[in-house]
Amino acid sequence: MFRNLSVALKTEPGDEFVISKLDHEANIASWVQLAEWKGLTVKWWVPSKDTSSNPKLVPEDLKKLLSPKTRLVTCTHTSNILGSITDIAPLAEVIHATSPRALFCVDAVAYAPHASIDVKALGVDFYSFSWYKVYGPHISMLYVKKFGRIVCIMRSSLTSTLVDPYEMMARRKTLTRTQVTLVEMAIGFGPY
Ligand SMILES: Cc1ncc(COP(=O)(O)O)c(C=O)c1O
Repeated sequence: MFRNLSVALKTEPGDEFVISKLDHEANIASWVQLAEWKGLTVKWWVPSKDTSSNPKLVPEDLKKLLSPKTRLVTCTHTSNILGSITDIAPLAEVIHATSPRALFCVDAVAYAPHASIDVKALGVDFYSFSWYKVYGPHISMLYVKKFGRIVCIMRSSLTSTLVDPYEMMARRKTLTRTQVTLVEMAIGFGPY
């Protein structure tokens, strides 16, 4: 999902990406690669407090990394390794106040199964979740603020197994079979 989102992002020379070090590789690699392709700057967002106990992504650390050139800030709502929960709304506030062109992308794969979510109150631009974390198929979906709704539902990670045509067919079938149900569930679940 993040791979697709990253290639869709419009950038300008000199743009900066702020990427959290607490994130799953899925929400890091795509952005780092895009920055490399386009010659953009990556600024790593590393928690400065409680680094050996419960490191958290907080506005104080983020503020030092933001600038008018910031195009993207990306972080996790909950770390899948540490369990640290990020307080998203204050971060969104700081980002949108400091960097008008910045888009805020949040990975909710580890958080969403455990809480009800109001994406509007969080102030996020992109918010992604994977259905297999709640015993569904390995399919992810993406909320996009600009459109005010979930805009994309697709097979999650592209793995090397997809070079196998049978594996590819099986995954396509899963996607086709489950898509409608997932859309219905999503509409029922959230304020869309
Ligand atoms: C926090 C987090 N983000 C992203 C992912 C990757 O999700 P997917 O397999 O749907 O690409 C995982 C997978 O465990 C995760 O825990």
